[in-house]
Amino acid sequence: MTGTSTRPAGPEQLRSRIAAELERTRARTALLTEAVDEADLTRQHSPLMSPLVWDLAHVGNQEELWLVRDVGGREPVRRDIDDLYDAFKQPRRDRPALPLLPPQEARAYLLTVRDKVLDLLDRVAFTERPLVADGFAFGMIVQHEQQHDETMLATHQLRAGPAVLHAPPPPEPTTRVDGEVLVPAGEFTMGTDADPWALDNERPAHRVHLPAYAIDAAPVTNGRYREFIADGGYDDPRWWSPAGWRHRREAELVAPMHWRRDGDGWAYRRFGRWAPVRDDEPVVHVCYHEARAYAAWAGKRLPTEAEWEKAARWDPASGRSRRYPWGDDDPTAEHANLGQRHLWPAPVGAYPAGASPLGVHQLIGDVWEWTSTPFRGHPGFTAFPYREYSEVFFGDDHRVLRGGSFGTDRAACRGTFRNWDFPIRRQIFSGFRCARDARPEESQP
Ligand code: AVJ
Ligand code: FE
Repeated sequence: MTGTSTRPAGPEQLRSRIAAELERTRARTALLTEAVDEADLTRQHSPLMSPLVWDLAHVGNQEELWLVRDVGGREPVRRDIDDLYDAFKQPRRDRPALPLLPPQEARAYLLTVRDKVLDLLDRVAFTERPLVADGFAFGMIVQHEQQHDETMLATHQLRAGPAVLHAPPPPEPTTRVDGEVLVPAGEFTMGTDADPWALDNERPAHRVHLPAYAIDAAPVTNGRYREFIADGGYDDPRWWSPAGWRHRREAELVAPMHWRRDGDGWAYRRFGRWAPVRDDEPVVHVCYHEARAYAAWAGKRLPTEAEWEKAARWDPASGRSRRYPWGDDDPTAEHANLGQRHLWPAPVGAYPAGASPLGVHQLIGDVWEWTSTPFRGHPGFTAFPYREYSEVFFGDDHRVLRGGSFGTDRAACRGTFRNWDFPIRRQIFSGFRCARDARPEESQP
């Protein structure tokens, strides 16, 4: 269990839940960093990404800063390396040239920090101090490591050479999902005050009124996206914003990242293997500009962030906003394609148990979904516990993505969870769905 809205029964349950989450998360980090040799760990696979060994020690350094030093008030383990693993002091492109801890030293560092954290976890009092109430700092550190595990998975996807990661394919569709769902006009609650491990940018809960709109019942598939390509969508400036068209020309975009022509079709390289592009899977590795152009070509638009969240959380029966599309229960393998159990998006119709009451499918997992909304604080936002998690990224430069991908862990994915990136980025596991305003005759209750 993770991040439940109900408070755990007592400090002992909370302690064991935190210990289990720390361990489960570290196992994933170990898998991602033991799959390649030392040379591969230290190399930079793309200027967009850190060497994997930077992510590894950075995860340990954040755990040391927040848990060992701040919560625990203990002596530093390695104060000398703080600057090396400070994401703001070291731009990604410069990280391979830094005197980073070699892989074995990084692993030993993580073990030392983790020993101290487990010792601290045995004794810590979960007082009302915001950093420790409900184990927040521990939950934040679990989520931080899980976020870097997804980043490391994206690095693996960029890495040249034969496949080193293996997973069974996602489940096959069991239901037909097509078309749009109409969401009636009205208020809903966006954001949360209740989820104890929700991060600062998900807070506070606030009421938002939306006019009626229609949203796609599923993410846009490869099949649909191929029609856009075949119709000359990449060559028609009508569908692109001015900035999008400029980027499309400069970057010479012609298809999603990792695609190449294969006879009359397309193939997609995922984690070192070429596979034919399957029409019923959500398209992945598109940037915001491509998503927006597709939506314009289709006669629609991208959803706003609020439209995405209302579709994912609003329960028409109770009027409440829930934690997930299916209700308040934590995600299981029946609900969503999360947690790197599979290494690509599941075909549309594979997760009927994860649908919302209105019938919107695959909002959680599979692909991060671009929204049209720039990343800002909810009304009443306060940075906590540090401005560099969210606040320094607020503004028009970043767009919000929602819902998590196959690479996102359940600990770092909720109906309120917010991700963001530059509109040109597509090395992340990003796709989208479309929306449109309701027509007047559809808006009648
Ligand atoms: C929320 C995914 C945009 O990776 O830049 C990791 C998460 N913040 N370490 C990122 C994060 C600090 C962040 N994203
Ligand atoms: Fe980080």
